[in-house]
Amino acid sequence: MKRDIISVLDMKSDFEKFVDDGIRLKKSFRAGKRDSSMERKTLGMIFEKASTRTRVSFETAMTQLGGHAIYLSPRDMQMGRGESIADTARVLSGMVDGVLYRAFEHDNVVELARNSTISVINGLDNLEHPTQIVADFMTIKEKKGSLKGLKIAYVGDGNNTANSLMLASGLVGSDFWIATPKGYEPLDQFVMAAKKLAKKQRSEVEVTNEWKEAVAGADVIYTDVWVSMGEEKEKEIKEKAFKKYQVNEKMVSLAKKDHIFMHCLPAHRGLEVTNAVADSKNSVIFEEAENRLHAEKIILKKVIN
Ligand code: CP
Ligand code: NVA
Repeated sequence: MKRDIISVLDMKSDFEKFVDDGIRLKKSFRAGKRDSSMERKTLGMIFEKASTRTRVSFETAMTQLGGHAIYLSPRDMQMGRGESIADTARVLSGMVDGVLYRAFEHDNVVELARNSTISVINGLDNLEHPTQIVADFMTIKEKKGSLKGLKIAYVGDGNNTANSLMLASGLVGSDFWIATPKGYEPLDQFVMAAKKLAKKQRSEVEVTNEWKEAVAGADVIYTDVWVSMGEEKEKEIKEKAFKKYQVNEKMVSLAKKDHIFMHCLPAHRGLEVTNAVADSKNSVIFEEAENRLHAEKIILKKVIN
C-alpha cells in the first residue's frame, strides 16, 4: 500500500519517529555514512508556487540518497494547459516513484493522490505544510532535548504552517499557543483536531488574540510571513492588521531566557520579525532550514521505499 503525506495527520501514528529518525540520519550523514536507498528512484516535483528550501532540500535529498528529482512547473507542463490532475497522476504513476506537490489548493493535492498509485507528498498548500514541520520538531528536539511539556508560542497568521505546527504539537504533547489578530485565527477544523490530540497527551492548544499571554514563559517562539503566497492582494490590509504582532525584542523578552526563535522562512525582516530577533543568539532559523534536508530524507525513505 502506498503512503501519502498530505497532512501532518498522515504521520499521526509515528510522527515523533519521523523526528527521531531524522535526527539520527543527520548524525550518520555528518559522520560520513552514505545511504543509497533511493538508487534508481525518481521523484517528480510539481511546484505551482515559488520555493527555495522545499525544492532544494528535496532535490538534494534525492541526489544524496542516490536517486534523481525532476522539477516540474505547471507553466511548462501540459497540466498548465488544461490536462487534468487525474490524468497527470496516472501518467506520473507509470514513470516516477513518488511526487512532491506544492499547490495553491489543498483539494488538488488530494486529487493527485487519489489518482496516483505512487506516494504523494504535500510540499505546502493553502491548508498545511507537513514536511516543514518534521524539520521544525527535529530542531526543537535537538535544542531542547524533548518535546513533551514545552510551550510553543506561534505569533502571526493562522495559516498553513500554523495549522501543521498545531497538529504536530498535539501529537507530541507540546503546549501550543497561537496569537493572531482578530479574524486571522486558524480554521476551527484544525483547532478542534489539535485539541483532541492534545487532550490525549494532557497538553494544551490555546488560541488567543493576546500575544503577551502566548509568549509568556515560552520555550519556542515561532512566526511566519503575514502574507502567504497567493494572498498578495491582501498585503496592505494584512500588514496593518498584524503590526502589533511583530516578533521584536520587547516581545521575546517575555519568553524564557533560553527560548529559541523559529521561522519557516522566507522572512520579511522588519515586518513579522526584526533583524535583532532573527539574528539573535536565540534564533535557530538557519539550522531549522538546514534540517529540511535531513527531514526530507527521512520522509522519502519512509514513503517511497
Ligand atoms: N519554508 C519553505 O517551505 O520555504 P520555501 O518556500 O523556500 O520552500
Ligand atoms: N505561509 C507561507 C509559507 C511559505 C513557506 C506561504 O504559504 O507562503
